Amino acid sequence: MLIMYNSSMITKSLRDIELLKENSLKELNEIKSLDALDAWRLQYLGRSGSLTQLLRSVSELPVEQRKTVGSAANAVKVALEDQLHMHREAIEFDSLAKDGQDFVDISLPGRNGLLGRYHPSTLVIREISAIFANMGFQIIDGPEVEWDRYNFEMLNIPQDHPARDMFDTFWLDINRQDDGAFTTLLRTHTSPMQARVMESNDPPVRVIIPGKCYRYEATDATHESQFHQIEGLAVDKGITFANLKHTLFEFARQMFGADTKVRFRCDYFPFVEPGVDMSIEWKGKWLEILGAGMVHPNVLRAVGYDPSIYSGFAFGMGPERIAMLKYGINDIRHFLQNDIRFLRQF
Ligand code: FA5
Repeated sequence: MLIMYNSSMITKSLRDIELLKENSLKELNEIKSLDALDAWRLQYLGRSGSLTQLLRSVSELPVEQRKTVGSAANAVKVALEDQLHMHREAIEFDSLAKDGQDFVDISLPGRNGLLGRYHPSTLVIREISAIFANMGFQIIDGPEVEWDRYNFEMLNIPQDHPARDMFDTFWLDINRQDDGAFTTLLRTHTSPMQARVMESNDPPVRVIIPGKCYRYEATDATHESQFHQIEGLAVDKGITFANLKHTLFEFARQMFGADTKVRFRCDYFPFVEPGVDMSIEWKGKWLEILGAGMVHPNVLRAVGYDPSIYSGFAFGMGPERIAMLKYGINDIRHFLQNDIRFLRQF
């Protein structure tokens, strides 16, 4: 009889505990606010909450029942506390997301933004241009798609002139003549800007023209089919070869150091007379960095300048080749490969 009584007591207590767990969790799932959550906590887990009361009443049970009922009630307490904790986090996260702070943990340190930087060609072009700007040259720009007229004819390189072979040309299939001849090209050098500037400006002229050039040639460690040049032109009364030498010597000193040695040698370009190339002594070797000369009288005449009154000098250099010297780059093809490991070094 006693046994029957005890076992039905236990069964009832365990059923009460189970019922409490079921009801409380059902209510918890409906809760959407922190205030309601707190009320729920007080109702079940607070000092006078129903689970707390139930746990207290365990001590009134006969000794042999206390263990079973006590541990069942404790297990429910732990489960309710766990669920309470998780539900609180879910409600807090939800309210952050509603504030537009989805996934943002404002206590984390910020991430550094990726900083862009200048391409090495741009850096060298700017450095070179600044040196000439300080000497009083104006920096201007010109078209990369050019007429045969400016790229060749006005520079004393008529049709069928053998010097055209010096410039392997990308011809464009636009503006073809009636006989099919090409008239338009990707400029092979920045020298056409000499003709453009003089044609539309009266002397004196003192300009620097940096820009892209294109040549239809195989690439290797020192040749690209797309590269930059920086053209220089100064025309006025009384300009002599001494002015050219002094200007380029001063440029070399500022660009490569005060002790830099330079060497001029005869060279041929149809648009200058005399023509030279200039080398600098770099790590014990002579390295050619530009072509130059006195503007040819035919070029002056083509733009409407009188060569008996005006004279001038011109030069053209490749900034990528100069950057290769300065920074010890062994292959010009790195400049256009867009490899971030290369670009990041400048
Ligand atoms: C010329 O293009 C002449 N227009 C330069 C000039 C201007 C002479 C004014 C006289 C008066 P040249 O082909 O040598 O010359 O090219 C000049 C520079 O451009 C070279 O010294 C070199 O630095 C660069 N260059 C030429 N071809 C390439 C190439 N394929 N890849 C990279 N750089 C090049």
